[in-house]
Amino acid sequence: MSKFTVFTLFPEQIENALSHSIMKRAMEDEKLSLNCVNIRDFTEDPHGHVDDAPFGGGAGMLMQVQPIVSAFEDLVQREGRPDRVIYCSPRGKVFQQSMAMELAKEEHILFLCGHYEGIDQRALDILEVEEVSIGDYVLTGGELPAVIMIDAIARLQDGVLNKKESFEEESFSQGLLEYPQYTRPRSFQDREVPEILLSGDHKKIRQWRWEESLRVTKEQRPELYEKYREENPELFIEKK
Ligand code: ADE
Repeated sequence: MSKFTVFTLFPEQIENALSHSIMKRAMEDEKLSLNCVNIRDFTEDPHGHVDDAPFGGGAGMLMQVQPIVSAFEDLVQREGRPDRVIYCSPRGKVFQQSMAMELAKEEHILFLCGHYEGIDQRALDILEVEEVSIGDYVLTGGELPAVIMIDAIARLQDGVLNKKESFEEESFSQGLLEYPQYTRPRSFQDREVPEILLSGDHKKIRQWRWEESLRVTKEQRPELYEKYREENPELFIEKK
């Protein structure tokens, strides 16, 4: 079972987002556990504040070091240091499927979600965080990035997806994007399902799907296509 702890000021946002469908089933089946910790519960400020203005001036408020470090010390005392501590931040290394696969091997991952304009650097230093971004855009907080990363990591764990939902053939798993798929009806508004998929010839279907994956990848993500070609030159030998 993989364990995710999330430090956040908005635990409901995480819990709500992950309490449906496959993630809900995985938690019920104890294939993964999710523990959201409200950082505010650890503030020693008499008014319950968790943020303050930045030294040196500048816009907005920063999350203060004390509540975050107290929450972390409490976690470490109860459960030991997590295997990985990830700070969701647009400043971080960009999250990709390869990182999801690497993180899926860990038992316990802590996500630290910032809000406002950021977090006092000393909290990041004391927790020895790895900064991870989900892409080159800025969100209002780290909660949605944490949800996205947990979903991507959790679905790779044994027993989270069933066979039908398996990820062997999906986008990125072989370095290509996924081929188009079709289900009933065979014909809809004069659009037909490609004949080959009805042929029952599994070898030909496999070849067609691979070629379609190549076509889609070349069209949508030319840089991925070039990488795939470079890594698999034997698949591109011209037929004489
Ligand atoms: N917090 C705000 N924007 C973010 C991003 N793009 N990735 C991770 N965390 C963030």
